[in-house]
Amino acid sequence: GYYEKTCTAPVNIAIIKYWGKRDVSLNLPTNSSLSVTLSQDNLQSKTTIRADPSFSKTRLWLNGIEEDVSANKRMQTCIKEARRLRSLYEQQLLRDGNSDVVPLAEYNLHICSENNFPTAAGLASSASGFACLVYTLAQLYSLPNSTSELSLIARQGSGSACRSLFGGFVAWEMGVNYDGSDSIAVQIADEHHWPELVALICVVSDAKKTVGSTAGMQSTVKTSPLLKERIEQVVPKRMEEMVKAIKNKDFNMFAEITMRDSNQFHAVCLDSFPPIFYLNDISRAIIKLVNEYNAISSDYKAAYTFDAGPNAVIYTLRENVDELAGLVKRYFMGEERGQIPSSFRVDAVPILEKGSVRHIIKTTVGDGPRIIEDG
Ligand code: DP6
Repeated sequence: GYYEKTCTAPVNIAIIKYWGKRDVSLNLPTNSSLSVTLSQDNLQSKTTIRADPSFSKTRLWLNGIEEDVSANKRMQTCIKEARRLRSLYEQQLLRDGNSDVVPLAEYNLHICSENNFPTAAGLASSASGFACLVYTLAQLYSLPNSTSELSLIARQGSGSACRSLFGGFVAWEMGVNYDGSDSIAVQIADEHHWPELVALICVVSDAKKTVGSTAGMQSTVKTSPLLKERIEQVVPKRMEEMVKAIKNKDFNMFAEITMRDSNQFHAVCLDSFPPIFYLNDISRAIIKLVNEYNAISSDYKAAYTFDAGPNAVIYTLRENVDELAGLVKRYFMGEERGQIPSSFRVDAVPILEKGSVRHIIKTTVGDGPRIIEDG
C-alpha cells in the first residue's frame, strides 16, 4: 500500500529583506530578516506526496509538468534531509519497542506541486513551494520535529522558504554556526495579532527578465561596500525595532522601517558592480504615489516594499484600503473610479498608461501550512 499527504503553504513578503549569503550551498544569510505571511485564500502552493514501495524512482511534477529531480539540487537536498529525519525517527520507534514501523524513508516518492497563482503573475513561488514540500514531507513521515527545526530544511531549498512555515509575522534569525544549525525561522506574532493590516500586491507589467536572487546576492556580497554597513550597523537595529513595532501594532514605525529597508535593499543592488536593477519606472511611480498619500496626514497610511522584481506590495490599514486601491487604479490602471482624498497633490504623481499595473491582489495576514487530505 501507499502513503500519501496533501498540504498547502503560504507566500511571505519580507519587510526586512534577506539579501546576501555567507554560505551559498546551505543558504546561510549575511543578515536576519522578517516577513509577513499572506493569506492562503489568495496565494498558496499545494503539494501532494505519495510514498510507495513499488515506485522505481522519485519523480516530480511542477504545475502538471514533469521535471527532472536530479537536475534540482535544492529539491534533492530537502528530500534527503527529510529522509534523514525519518530514518532517525524510525530507529527511535524501533528502540522504543514498536514492531510495526513502516520503512517510509526507503520508499521512492511521487511529488506533485502547484501554485494557485500563475507564475506569469510575476510573483515568486519558491518560498511557498519549498515550504510546502518540506511541510508535506514532515506530515507524510510523521516527523516529531518542531516547526523551527523543519525551517532548517526549507531554508536549504530557498532561503525565504523557511519563513513560510509559520503564519503571522516571522523572523529568520541568521545564526552564527558554520553548519547553519541556528539559522532558523521563529514566529514573532501569529495571524490573529494584527487583523487590520492589509497588503495590496500591485502586479506591474515588465518585459525584462530579472537577475535571479542567488546570482544577485553573490554579486552584491562580492562587490558592494554598502552591504557591509547594512548587515553590521543597520539590520540588527531594524530587527529589534520592527519586532517592537509589530508587538505594539505601531503602523507608523512598521511603515517607516518597511520602506527604508526596501530602499536600502535596492540601494545595495545599485551599489553592486555591475549594478542590479529590479525597480522600473512603474515601481518608482508607485513609490511616489505612496509618498504623496503619506504626505496628506501626519501619520503614515501606507508602506511600499519591493523584492527582486518591479512588483509592489503596499501594506496599509483596512480603513485606507479602498482609497489607496482607488488611487492605484486611477494612476496606473486607466480607471477613473474612486475619490481623490482632499489635500492629495494630484499632479505630483505621473498618470501612467492603462495596464501599467496589470492587477491588484488585496490580501491580509495569514496562517501557516495546512494539511488538506490524508491518504
Ligand atoms: C528579495 O529566498 O528567493 O525576496 O535563498 O537564493 O532561494 P534563495 O533566495 P530567495 O531570496 C529572496 C530575496 C528577497 C528578500 C526576502 O524575501 O527576504
